[in-house]
Amino acid sequence: MDTRTKIAGVELDSYVLNASGVRDTTLEELEAIAKSDSSAIVMKSCTIEPRKGNPEPRYMRLQLGSIQSMGLPNLGYKEYVIFSSQLKKYNKPIIASVAGSCADDYREMVSAFQDSDVDLIEVNLSCPNLEGKTLAYDFEQTGEILRAISDLGDKPYGLKLPPYPDVYHIQVAELIEKHGVSFITLINSIGSSLIIDSETEKPVIKPRGGFGGLCGDYIKPIALGNVRAFYELLKNEVSIFGVGGIKSGTDAFEFLLAGADAIQVATTFEKQGPSCFGRINKELIEILERKGYNSTQKVKGNLKYL
Ligand code: SIN
Repeated sequence: MDTRTKIAGVELDSYVLNASGVRDTTLEELEAIAKSDSSAIVMKSCTIEPRKGNPEPRYMRLQLGSIQSMGLPNLGYKEYVIFSSQLKKYNKPIIASVAGSCADDYREMVSAFQDSDVDLIEVNLSCPNLEGKTLAYDFEQTGEILRAISDLGDKPYGLKLPPYPDVYHIQVAELIEKHGVSFITLINSIGSSLIIDSETEKPVIKPRGGFGGLCGDYIKPIALGNVRAFYELLKNEVSIFGVGGIKSGTDAFEFLLAGADAIQVATTFEKQGPSCFGRINKELIEILERKGYNSTQKVKGNLKYL
């Protein structure tokens, strides 16, 4: 079975890899990903300076996923530039993820990663857990950031985006096309979610009055809808990572039908650990074989209609 795929021209050995944000902050964690069946090493979204993140409890497992308000705990981008050279020996594509608060931050970090050993640069505009607005919902600021980073080097860069309702899809697709974005990661956790414990009468996480990003099964249909909508608008010109509630080969297959070029696993990686990548890939291969397909490429985007 040929499960190879490409994101912005970078070849991945399989369809399944880790998502930024889970067990990918330290070199030890990144090496565990490197040694797993994840087809690339995606690093934690980093900021200009190291951050401790939001007060705890800031992550809560739920029956059908999780809610989190981590607040970007990370070691600062300079560490991840160094990590990229230390991870190179594993011969797997390395993906940096950067999260700034203004265009200058993004320019500084993207510039540094353009000169590093990473293969792709994910520009995270969708962290829902910081004070102020989610950048990707402000199209003027998104345009300003894209203008600041688009001429910094040859490594492809992409955007990690939040879910959008349909009224914004065309506008976002136009921004992506105008600024030479090579890939998009859809979707980040769904911000401003609130889980309340009726016994304690309190939210289950502490930061920001209990508001956080919802992850896991709860968000899979919304992720699939966004992948499909942008796949139809961008017509294979921009690669798509699907993220959101992928815990089995069946989930991965659904994202493949919707048009994702590869999928990233977050909540299930947190729950199961690094063995999840090989398991999901094996389950995906079993489904493809049972249906008589010999490659993921034969299926990509081929959602059938009723
Ligand atoms: C976080 O660290 O708050 C999560 C990162 C993200 O949502 O992009």
